[in-house]
Amino acid sequence: MYGVIIHFLREYVIERHGGEATWQALIEAQGYKYKLYFPVQDYPDEEIVGLVETASKALKTPIPDVLEDFGSYAGPKLLSFYHMYVKNKDMKTFDVIETAGANIHDVIHKHNPNRKPPRLSSQRESENVIVVHYQSHRKLCPVVRGIIRGLGEKFNERFDINETQCMHDGAEKCIMRVTRSAS
Ligand code: HEM
Repeated sequence: MYGVIIHFLREYVIERHGGEATWQALIEAQGYKYKLYFPVQDYPDEEIVGLVETASKALKTPIPDVLEDFGSYAGPKLLSFYHMYVKNKDMKTFDVIETAGANIHDVIHKHNPNRKPPRLSSQRESENVIVVHYQSHRKLCPVVRGIIRGLGEKFNERFDINETQCMHDGAEKCIMRVTRSAS
């Protein structure tokens, strides 16, 4: 996984869960005295898994809930970190979801074929409903839900997210029906 995601995880822990000391404790639990994560460097997925597992134990919160909350933090951050990909300044959540698949994650893969970013596609069913398809060997559907919620907070939109099938139940991909409920 690109270091940018771990970099956001660090900021998330510092901002929402007790500052530098908590992050330092997480790092030490992974066997490091000191560790820097560089945004465009590639790190083994086990690094982020270990950090999230330790955070989940420390917070006494299930891993999917930690991942979803982290996703809600990371969504708007991804948007501003990669602002060059976001040409249309009037975008809202559904537009970001639509552009993230073909124009962002696939571009990452094209420029660096060793990367395995998630496969994300979507179809709008109506003005307020979009169906999101997510596939990744990392099976991070709670992060998808969190990113959607986090973008919603940024754009003042609220969503009901109904996951109709999930890789954690053996499906080949996760499918989520996202309904915008209020602006
Ligand atoms: C401006 C918008 C976005 C940008 C710039 C962006 C960029 C990225 C980058 C750089 C990664 C790391 C990929 C890697 O290490 O190979 C990533 C991972 C991820 N992104 Fe996005 N993303 C965006 C929007 C979204 C949206 C809207 C969703 C879902 C609704 C999403 C879901 C994910 C997930 C779940 C991962 C974790 C990796 C995995 O599941 O395999 N992203 N994204």
